[in-house]
Amino acid sequence: MSKVVKRFVCQECGSWHNKWNGRCEGCNSWNTLVEEQVVQTAKFSPPGGAMGGTGTEGVVWATLQADPLAEPQTTNNKKGETFTLNSKRLTSEIQEFDRVCGGGLVPGSVILVGGDPGIGKSTLLLQLVSALSTHYHCAYVSGEEAILQIQLRAERLGLHTKGLKLTSSTDLLAVIQSLEQLPQLRLVIVDSIQTMFHSAFEAAPGTVSQVRACAHQLITWAKKNGIIVILVGHVTKEGVIAGPRVLEHMVDTVLYFEGERSDQYRILRSVKNRFGATDEIGVFEMTGQGLQEVSNPSCLFLSQQKEPVAGSAIFASIEGTRPILVEVQALVAPTYLASPRRTVVGWDLGRLNMILAVLESRAKLKFGNKDVFLNIAGGLKISEPAADLGVAAALISALTNQPIPRDQIFFGEIGLAGEIRSVNQGENRLKEAAKLGFHRAAFSEKLKENFKSFTDISQHPLHYVGELVTLITGR
Ligand code: TYD
Ligand code: MG
Repeated sequence: MSKVVKRFVCQECGSWHNKWNGRCEGCNSWNTLVEEQVVQTAKFSPPGGAMGGTGTEGVVWATLQADPLAEPQTTNNKKGETFTLNSKRLTSEIQEFDRVCGGGLVPGSVILVGGDPGIGKSTLLLQLVSALSTHYHCAYVSGEEAILQIQLRAERLGLHTKGLKLTSSTDLLAVIQSLEQLPQLRLVIVDSIQTMFHSAFEAAPGTVSQVRACAHQLITWAKKNGIIVILVGHVTKEGVIAGPRVLEHMVDTVLYFEGERSDQYRILRSVKNRFGATDEIGVFEMTGQGLQEVSNPSCLFLSQQKEPVAGSAIFASIEGTRPILVEVQALVAPTYLASPRRTVVGWDLGRLNMILAVLESRAKLKFGNKDVFLNIAGGLKISEPAADLGVAAALISALTNQPIPRDQIFFGEIGLAGEIRSVNQGENRLKEAAKLGFHRAAFSEKLKENFKSFTDISQHPLHYVGELVTLITGR
């Protein structure tokens, strides 16, 4: 017996409602309800228990050993079969990927990789699965491309695919059933979760209910069997992974693959990770031979310019656990508009307005009749408050037309009173700068005691933004 159900699903929290409403009663967000026609068949049983189990006999307890990472754990499932939960991380030879995951893939974890269409998600995961399939049994399920297409791509990129299981299918339950037949399977890639179809739901693939049901089924299966599942997720126009936000809460790790399609550089960023640091980035270059790792990204984000130019300042940033030097570029030009333009690429507009206001009121600089443009070179997006000092330096340099020496770096947060506040990981930032041949650093004076060992860097500890103006202009 099947029954047609019309309902409204919140794209934010995934809750169901019988009537359309401007505001979701589940999470109070506005304009998030979308209509879905669902035919519920008798096969469907609502997910019960934490992992969708149906009764207590399905519950399996593993007794932890003293050091869970040292020894594989063995446990029994309800049929009395023995399977192994080896909790050692799987590492590929792709170091940029391993680091973003927190040092490799944790068995039983589910990773969601989101990104714009054509950015290179399938290419990245094909390279990953190829690297891992030299040591482990892996499977690649594509709902978007035919087996031949994937084979051709792998061949063209010269990838190792011996032993790799490849299938092109969108029927999730059938896929899971056939995966269970594969011996010693360690990793499955599902490209993409929006193309998968759970036969207990008649809603079209890609709808909130389908995406949620498929993800739930895969996550349950991954946790039960200790198999790593990597899901590819499409991104909506607003830049979030399509389907309910709850998908991000359900998985262990969320990675975004970003970059401009016109530019060859791609950044893999972790925004959630239950097994490692977030805001970690991996940098790749898209070439004719697929994605190549960029192991020294500081060189990438610094401009190729040798001569100092006004409006450019180097900021020593920390992305996740790694220091990266990035160039902040500012342009200040007379305005012909009633309200001057403030344009930012790679940083926060609100934060730029705040820095401009602090420079106006605490350092008596005038930006009121000027258009201001700010750009982080190389397409990186910075969210750290430590960038304030670099941004302020670039703005002062652009306004006063005073170039900053090419071997100077900046890092520090600016408070509303104009004070320069200290930031963490100063030593790592200075170490990276010293390694790349920088000889001057400006930071909060509160940190100066920490940096005594950096004798080959001339240090400029600063209290207030006024001192930054003096440092750059000499006045
Ligand atoms: P793809 O991995 O299919 O993107 P996604 O899965 O995120 O939609 O990548 C497609 C793009 O990558 C396409 O525009 C061509 C480019 N590309 C290269 O430039 N070099 C290559 O070696 C490959 C395989 C793709
Ligand atoms: Mg793809």
